[in-house]
Amino acid sequence: MIVITGASGQLGRLVIDRLLQKIPASGIVAAVRSPEKVADLAAKGVHVRQADYSQPSTLDGAFAGAKKILLISSSEVGQRAAQHQSVIDAAKRAGVELLAYTSVLHADTSLLGLAEDHRQTEVALAASGVPGVLLRNGWYHENYTAGIAGDLAHGAHFGSAGDGRISSAARADYADAAVAVLTSSDDQAGRVYELAGDASYSLTEFAAEVSRQTGKPVVYTDLPEAAYKAALLQAGLPAFVAELLANSDAAAAQGALFDEGHQLSKLIGRPTTPLAVSVAAALKS
Ligand SMILES: NC(=O)c1ccc[n+]([C@@H]2O[C@H](COP(=O)([O-])OP(=O)(O)OC[C@H]3O[C@@H](n4cnc5c(N)ncnc54)[C@H](OP(=O)(O)O)[C@@H]3O)[C@@H](O)[C@H]2O)c1
Repeated sequence: MIVITGASGQLGRLVIDRLLQKIPASGIVAAVRSPEKVADLAAKGVHVRQADYSQPSTLDGAFAGAKKILLISSSEVGQRAAQHQSVIDAAKRAGVELLAYTSVLHADTSLLGLAEDHRQTEVALAASGVPGVLLRNGWYHENYTAGIAGDLAHGAHFGSAGDGRISSAARADYADAAVAVLTSSDDQAGRVYELAGDASYSLTEFAAEVSRQTGKPVVYTDLPEAAYKAALLQAGLPAFVAELLANSDAAAAQGALFDEGHQLSKLIGRPTTPLAVSVAAALKS
């Protein structure tokens, strides 16, 4: 039995879709805090169990009989270290053979503010004695392609990443990596994967790609971190999201999102999705 937490999220759904191509639905548990969100998965024969990271009492039932667990990191930044500790404790009680955790690229040295929760979780996993594998995911292409409509409206992509190069990959690439690890016949315990796209680009190059595909001018406009944060606040983003995005871009300017190890393509056995493909997909949707 393989349990996927956060299965109602965008990455979790992709993982389950791909897992269903490899193992029967009866061997998969979608562990979610709101089971009604994944009625479609239940209809396919996937076991759906309630699991709220903030309610440890839900986790033992969710993990009963689990051989492997994919802990997809919570989206509740700031609460994640405690939430993930609860998941690790429950995985230990369940006696799982493997817990795979979606961390962040170069978590141990990362300049990203959001890496702190991941570092704490990695330490907690190591201390727990639960056999663990770290999927240190880089940025998703979709973090940028989701904003293309706004970029086109402004004729500009705003950011604070300077000339920093970004080795992102499609969310689906990271889903394939998780499935490769969960279904591998090799012992994965103790491994650390630094996962990132094969090619890197600057935000100037991203804006140029959007222009190329749409025929409309989009220029990258670099702002100081504080000014970018202020612009995000003015655009209506919640304060903590504005802080996080501006901080991440500033870290990207210093190389925090760059990697050239090609571990993701090696793990999934194919090149990672080019940025241009994800831009085209976003423009079609
Ligand atoms: N690498 C990157 O570029 C990048 C970008 C964004 C996020 N991330 C991280 O990667 C994770 C997966 O990405 P994603 O795109 O799938 O994010 P997402 O679509 O926002 O999904 C987040 C998932 O976490 C679940 N969750 C949040 N709080 C929970 C709780 N207290 N108990 C149980 N489940 C909870 C959500 O459940 P509900 O459906 O009930 O809300 C959802 O299933 C994110 O959560 C975040 O940690 C990475």
